[in-house]
Amino acid sequence: MSKTTLRTIKEKYEKNEKLVMITSYDSLMTEWLVQTDIDMILVGDSVGMVLLGYENTIPVTVEDIIHHTRAVKRVSKNKFVIADMPFMSYQVSTEDALYNAGRIIKETLADAVKIEGGLEVSEIVKRMVQAGIPVMGHIGLNPQHLLAEGGYKVKGRSEQDRERLLLEAKSLEQSGAFSIVIETVPENVGKIITENVSIPTIGIGAGRYTSGQVLVIYDILGMYEKIKPKFVKRYRELGKEILAGINEYINEVKIGKFPDEEHSFK
Ligand code: KIV
Repeated sequence: MSKTTLRTIKEKYEKNEKLVMITSYDSLMTEWLVQTDIDMILVGDSVGMVLLGYENTIPVTVEDIIHHTRAVKRVSKNKFVIADMPFMSYQVSTEDALYNAGRIIKETLADAVKIEGGLEVSEIVKRMVQAGIPVMGHIGLNPQHLLAEGGYKVKGRSEQDRERLLLEAKSLEQSGAFSIVIETVPENVGKIITENVSIPTIGIGAGRYTSGQVLVIYDILGMYEKIKPKFVKRYRELGKEILAGINEYINEVKIGKFPDEEHSFK
């Protein structure tokens, strides 16, 4: 299969094909994803919560993202890989944002970066795109605003909030973003934004009408237990399977059942 590029993504969007993005942070999981029809792999800053043991995404660094994206890229073959820009890697100044985005792209060979925020990042997005860096926006619930907002809550419930979200989406589109993640908004808000921009919207908790969907891999597989948002569908319960397998091994060693003859050398 040929390499997924911005053009492939645009073509699928224009044909109204649903786009699917899933997070991955290491080579093992990416090797599984590579065997699927997935359109985009996101090395999200959610790595901080699901793999690094942080309570939220705030502590994640540019070095963390580079480290994990390089692991993903080593095996991602023809898949389109997007690296998340972590908290405070693009807020200090446009120069700093460009420098960090450039570092991430050059040191990981990711295909694009993702950046949280709306109007306040539009100028930065424009400069990145002008420099040749493909950018995915991210509006609605922005997990990196956790401290300022005091928690995670559904966005776009008031008329004012809805109008602002639409404005943000349009301004990201005008700045040259190739796609926008819309997180945790009522379904009709996801629909209105999708109908009013000409780039793919990728929903997470944004209902059925966005151009595509994204979920965290460990949520899909039922391995992350700490937070279970309403929008997550767990397609398997691998966490339970993992625990059962480990316990069975421990037990067999303890009772002398493992190793048996089959797993021993003559
Ligand atoms: O970091 C992440 O995994 C994300 C997705 C949830 C969109 O930003």
